[in-house]
Amino acid sequence: AARASTIATHDDVDDAAPPAATHPSVIDVNPPRGTRDFLPDDMRLRNWLFQHFREVSRLLSFEEVDFPVLESEALFIRKAGEEITQQLYNFEDKGGRRVVLRPEITPSLARVVIKQGKSVSLPLKWFTIGQCWRYERMTRGRRREHYQWNMDILGVSRVRAEAELIHALVILFERLGITSVDVGIRISSRKVLQAVLQTYSIPEHLFTEVFVIVDKLGKFTREEIEKELVSVGVPLDAVKGLVEVLSFKSLARLEDVLGPNVEAVADLKQLFSMAEHYGYSQWIQFDASVVRGLAYYTGIVFEAFDKEGKLRAICGGGRYDRLLSTFGTDDIPACGFGFGDAVIMELLKEKGLVPDLIRQVDDIVFPLDVELEGPASKIVASLRQKGRSVDLVEDKRLKWVFKHAERINAGRLILVGNSEWQRGMVRVKILSTREEYEIKVDELD
Ligand code: HAM
Repeated sequence: AARASTIATHDDVDDAAPPAATHPSVIDVNPPRGTRDFLPDDMRLRNWLFQHFREVSRLLSFEEVDFPVLESEALFIRKAGEEITQQLYNFEDKGGRRVVLRPEITPSLARVVIKQGKSVSLPLKWFTIGQCWRYERMTRGRRREHYQWNMDILGVSRVRAEAELIHALVILFERLGITSVDVGIRISSRKVLQAVLQTYSIPEHLFTEVFVIVDKLGKFTREEIEKELVSVGVPLDAVKGLVEVLSFKSLARLEDVLGPNVEAVADLKQLFSMAEHYGYSQWIQFDASVVRGLAYYTGIVFEAFDKEGKLRAICGGGRYDRLLSTFGTDDIPACGFGFGDAVIMELLKEKGLVPDLIRQVDDIVFPLDVELEGPASKIVASLRQKGRSVDLVEDKRLKWVFKHAERINAGRLILVGNSEWQRGMVRVKILSTREEYEIKVDELD
């Protein structure tokens, strides 16, 4: 039931400038490049998706929060060379403050938790759905603004937090009609690479930079990545060791190489064992190449992907136990994910899982005569008070009204005509059955 929709389609690939306006007084009616207008069909779809996000969050007993889209730039200054920090929509406001349109929500969450200080009650389980801005090179499912559903748990250092978050993802996919044949969740831990780096005595201050570089493995050639690693100070043998471990797809193999007592192995084994109890083992797989591009992840990282490999990551997340101290306060264990609206809609379209959501109105009230506008308003008011959605139509021909009723999927047409009104009656037509009858106005419900 895929329909034309702007939720994730228009101007995805073409990055050319729009054609110049033919007349200087005609403004460009396109929204800024990479952004979307949400017309009613798109909005219905967006609300439908967000409703699923909200419902899954409720099932996991998370509370909803919201933060400003405009944040102070300082929250997003990080030095690890992440892509996200190079894509900032940043500027100076009229008061001379450096601000950004947030590219992600996690730093705002950290800010709020720091602001709460000792009064914060842990564990904290919050979710939010908000617009994020990144000056991206646009590809399919990747744009300059997107909505992100975030679920975060603060105050839980056990792998239970990761297990819960992955459970949320699985529930969401299942509710959307997606199966583990279509989508998988790849899991690794930054501690895997950390353990490798430690065996080569690489200084700790290089770790984050290395993670950010290694994350680009899919986008750049192996040679380019190796060169970049060497250029930041990782010796060639360590680079080779790293690249080898990154190719591991089996936890047993990892255990053979790193040994069972390494934290990375223990964490991952625990998570996979929890997955069995939840009953979602078929959705997850270990894949050492998952690093995620954000600097602040410290432990388990994960991403959902389409098994056909046509799209970018559907969502991404992980543990970030040391983000708060980068803002100068005490750390709190933290874990979460961000799930965009764009890639998932592309996938749902591919799979024919986009629902055909139609406009739905309960009643149309139509006065057949100008003099009957007063009574019609009265009827409309009373129906709305009863909770019915009512469209009041005037100044149209009856033929138009019937067509309109069909277009908006109205349940009933209520005709207010002179002769009926004199008797305190209106004419009702049930549009699905074509049944027609007269009814007393005060019996309408
Ligand atoms: P991220 O991996 O940068 O993580 O983004 C998370 C998800 O947001 C992506 O997997 C994708 O679904 C969506 N997304 C990101 N950029 C775009 C874009 N330009 N166009 C469309 N969709 C996009 C974060 O942002 C972390 N803050 C997530 C997190 C929350 N980690 C812990 N808590």
